[in-house]
Amino acid sequence: MEAGAGVMEGGGVGGRDSSRVGVGHHNKIGYVKKGIIKKRKWMRRIIKQAATVPIMPIPLQLQQLFVSCLDVFKGPPATIPAPNDVHKLCTILDNMKPEDVGLSSELQFFKPTNMVKGNPRVTYTTIYKCDNFSLCLFFLPATGVIPLHNHPGMTVFSKLLLGTMHIKSYDLVDPTNLDGSVPSSQLRLAKLKADRVFEAPCDTSVLYPTTGGNIHAFTAITPCAVLDVIGPPYSKEDGRDCSYYKDHPYTASNGEAALTTEDSDSYGWLEEIEMPENSQMDGIEYLGPQVTEPTC
Ligand SMILES: [Fe+2]
Repeated sequence: MEAGAGVMEGGGVGGRDSSRVGVGHHNKIGYVKKGIIKKRKWMRRIIKQAATVPIMPIPLQLQQLFVSCLDVFKGPPATIPAPNDVHKLCTILDNMKPEDVGLSSELQFFKPTNMVKGNPRVTYTTIYKCDNFSLCLFFLPATGVIPLHNHPGMTVFSKLLLGTMHIKSYDLVDPTNLDGSVPSSQLRLAKLKADRVFEAPCDTSVLYPTTGGNIHAFTAITPCAVLDVIGPPYSKEDGRDCSYYKDHPYTASNGEAALTTEDSDSYGWLEEIEMPENSQMDGIEYLGPQVTEPTC
C-alpha cells in the first residue's frame, strides 16, 4: 500500500497557524485502496481509457459520525454538546474501525517494527472542517509526541484507532480570575486528569473547555492513528489559538496552600511555552473515504 499522501503545509495542532511553522516534509501514511485498484482494472477493460479515480464507498460509521456532528454542533460555535449528544457521538466513535477512514493495521506505517530515523514527526489530515467542527486524523510514528497543548473553548472527542500511546492530561484549577481575565502568573496550577497508556481498540475520551483534561499530550509507544472530533475548530480570529505547556511537579509555591503528599501527585504546575521546535506537524491530503452533505 503505497498510496502517498500529498503534502500540504506544516503546522501546530490542527495546523491552524502556518506562520509558526516551516515547510512540511513528504510523508506517506497510505490508505487502503483495494477497491480502487480493482475498479481501475475493470474500467480499463471495459472502456479502454485511462483509469479515472472512482469514488470510494462511504463507510456507514463515518457518514453517521459526520451527520451526527452536523446536528450536535449546529448551535453557535463553542456551545458545549448536551450529555445525550456526547453519548451519541461517543457511541458512534466507540464502534469506529480504522477501515472507516481508509486505514488498516496492515499498512506499513503502523507495523510495530516501523521505526523512524531522526525526529519522528507527527502528521495530520483533515477529513472535514466547517466553522462549527472538524474531523481530523493524527498519525504518530513510534516515539512521536504531540506536546502539552490546550483546546480553548472547545469540546474534543478522541478515538485511538490504531496503536498504543501514553496520554497525559490536565485541567487548570482556576482557568480565569473572577473578572474573567487570565491570571498573569507564569505557572498555573493544574489537576492531573489522566496519566496512563491507551491501547487500540479503546473507548473514546472526551475533553471539555474546563474539564475532562483540556490540556493534553500524546506520546506514541507504537505507530498510532487518532481520530479527533473538534468542536469548534481552532481559530485565531475567534480567540481559539493553541497554547503549549511544560509541566512541573507540584510544590507549594505561589502562595498556594501546601497539599498532602497524596494530593500533590494529582497536581502540577503548567508553564506556557512557545511551540517546541521539534513538535511541528506535517499536513497531508486526506485520501480516505469522503463524507457527503445530506440532501434535504
Ligand atoms: Fe489535542
